[in-house]
Amino acid sequence: MTAKKIALVIGGSGMLRGVSRWLNEIGYSVYIIGRDRQKLQDVQLECKHPESSCGISVDYRDSEQLKQQVNRILAADGLPDIIVSWIHSTAPNALSDILDVIQDYHTDNSWRLFHIQSSAGFWIKENTPVPELCLYKRVYLGFTQENNQSRWLTHGEISDGVIQAIESDKDESVVGTIEPWDQRPL
Ligand SMILES: NC(=O)c1ccc[n+]([C@@H]2O[C@H](COP(=O)([O-])OP(=O)(O)OC[C@H]3O[C@@H](n4cnc5c(N)ncnc54)[C@H](OP(=O)(O)O)[C@@H]3O)[C@@H](O)[C@H]2O)c1
Repeated sequence: MTAKKIALVIGGSGMLRGVSRWLNEIGYSVYIIGRDRQKLQDVQLECKHPESSCGISVDYRDSEQLKQQVNRILAADGLPDIIVSWIHSTAPNALSDILDVIQDYHTDNSWRLFHIQSSAGFWIKENTPVPELCLYKRVYLGFTQENNQSRWLTHGEISDGVIQAIESDKDESVVGTIEPWDQRPL
């Protein structure tokens, strides 16, 4: 019997909806973190296998609640094989809270963390300590240029680019471009 593959998408009911749906379509049981229950339910219903997707409504600025929810996932399904994390700067401790819980969970298997960050983060790389068996990948969201004009990426372009980054499995990817930086949209 093949083991169930588990994914966790933090912020997976926003611009990463397409990533949540794709992971579900390619066979992952997907946990999606957001706050708005309706948005979480909408993504679940958009999934090809809604029975293998689960919305978790939690404010990731609340450390205790967040840790409790991650513990729930670990107890139910074990360590996710892949975590895609898009967390606002309003929650500077949320990712380390999640990683702290995971650190205490015994596993012999490596797993992947795709850390989605805004383009500004590309220039001053933050130090993200991760558990030993974590394969850490950074994905930066850039902009695009069309007809000599720059614009930020659409949600669809962001999700498609993150999917490509996951498929390519590089340690660092940029969705769109971040150069020339002085031509980024205002
Ligand atoms: N190119 C770039 O550099 C770049 C970078 C960043 C953003 N952007 C653009 O800026 C726009 C805004 O970004 P956004 O992050 O607001 O878009 P978003 O991805 O549409 O929304 C954020 C996601 O995180 C969840 N979330 C937010 N705060 C949370 C909290 N405290 N606790 C738990 N979950 C939380 C949201 O769910 P709930 O709403 O239910 O809480 C949602 O799933 C995007 O539409 C994107 O196009 C561009």
